Amino acid sequence: MDPSTSGLAQRLAEAGQSHLLHFWNELSPAGQADLTLELQGMDFQEINGFFKNAMETSSNSKHEKMDARMEPVPREVLGSVMKDRDSLKDWELIGLRCISQSNVAVLLLAGGQGTRLGVSYPKGMYDVGLPSHKTLFQIQAERILKLQQLAEQKHKIKCCIPWYIMTSGRTMEPTKDFFSRHNYFGLDKDNIIFFQQGMLPAMDYNGKIILEGKGKLSMAPDGNGGLYRALGNQGIMDDMERRGIEFIHVYCVDNILVKVADPAFVGFCVQKGADCGAKVVEKTNPTEAVGVVCKVDGRYQVVEYSEITLETAQKRSADGRLMFSAGNVANHFFSFSFLRDVVEKYEPKLQHHVAQKKIPYLDAEGQLIKPEKPNGIKMEKFVFDIFQFAKTFVVYEVLREDEFSPLKNADSQDGKDTPTTARHALMSVHHRWLLNAGGHFIDENGRRMPAIPSLKDGTDLPIKCEISPLVSYGGEGLEEFVKGREFHPTLMIDGDGVHELVKNGV
Ligand code: UTP
Repeated sequence: MDPSTSGLAQRLAEAGQSHLLHFWNELSPAGQADLTLELQGMDFQEINGFFKNAMETSSNSKHEKMDARMEPVPREVLGSVMKDRDSLKDWELIGLRCISQSNVAVLLLAGGQGTRLGVSYPKGMYDVGLPSHKTLFQIQAERILKLQQLAEQKHKIKCCIPWYIMTSGRTMEPTKDFFSRHNYFGLDKDNIIFFQQGMLPAMDYNGKIILEGKGKLSMAPDGNGGLYRALGNQGIMDDMERRGIEFIHVYCVDNILVKVADPAFVGFCVQKGADCGAKVVEKTNPTEAVGVVCKVDGRYQVVEYSEITLETAQKRSADGRLMFSAGNVANHFFSFSFLRDVVEKYEPKLQHHVAQKKIPYLDAEGQLIKPEKPNGIKMEKFVFDIFQFAKTFVVYEVLREDEFSPLKNADSQDGKDTPTTARHALMSVHHRWLLNAGGHFIDENGRRMPAIPSLKDGTDLPIKCEISPLVSYGGEGLEEFVKGREFHPTLMIDGDGVHELVKNGV
């Protein structure tokens, strides 16, 4: 339909976005129909409002450092797998009990574009090159399966951990298709619930929506904090309520070590009566670009490295650790009632953050230009933006080498957060589990290999060990396979038993 008779042209003019119809007459009838459909679904006044607020907040925060308003996390809200060893078993039991009553759900944030990794498919489908070639999705699914079994064995009742998976416009179909092709990795299809986050247009610095084709807007997901709006408008909170969910563990798709529905973390948060909890790892290097959980003006928040001075980033406590050391790993606990309040009351109060980007755009002649420096912004909310609304907030510190190794970048020499670092991190954890369970590795001459093998630059791990999550969730139950035995690496332990993949150098 002609945009001037349908009222679309007028709506665009009122919002200062008429340029979106600049190439209208050059579009095919199908192209015109697609563009009309996309534009009709958009609320331009709202988008302009997001832009104005986001730009204002971003320019204010550029001039003001947070330092004077920050306080570290107080000890009384902190649980630590290192410092509170005696409580770990209790927390785990509480968590397992909640799981056995089917009160715990997991929620996966998988709507990102994975631009840095640079693959055309969703990141969860990535194979980092483990001996089993399992993908991130499969590893997570099997951890859920195993945890259900552990809770069932302990409490002798059947239970389930519903898995809510947030995707975005581009990742939804391939993700669903991947799960279906793999038979939901053994999980019950009805307990895996896919839902879709919103998208927002990229805008230039004057608030004009950017066209990336003659009939195509430049669109991107609205950040992992788009979760809260999506939970409301996709009916997910109602679904959780119907299932009797009381606690939700939220995590990111790219952390290969993620302890999905970690019973100790859940149990710790439940015991503390928390409505919101954040798992953190110790930030050890003052200049590491990781956000830290702390209090700002008395409320919990994640403060980015760029928001503080180097002097504050370098401050140390009496124990020698950085004063602001609670490194955020986007791994959170929410009570159902807190999440519902966020969705119903607080979400509209959250501001979008501004990310300056190089955004390909069409010039007035319709040529696609790939800019060399940032020419516009994408607007995103963050999952941790809601900490400020928590009444009882807790922090749970874990060991980075045990629980955090994100996949962000493609492989490169000395690269950070790559498929290689993720693969090594997982196999190192499994190697430690095997040693703890009384197993040993021997080399091709039958000699015991040192527990901490030296890693020569540029070489792969000398000991490769992969243990299926279907065999062990967190290192438990391995004695029967390995105690007092010696193995050649590469070793794989799965549901069919123990396999030495490379024996005597073969
Ligand atoms: P990142 O911010 O690292 O983004 O996401 P990304 O998409 O994985 O990678 P880049 O930045 O494009 O290279 C952290 C987590 O948040 C999710 C991602 O899927 C990942 O689990 N995420 C991110 C969303 O769910 N939605 C978004 O809009 C953005």
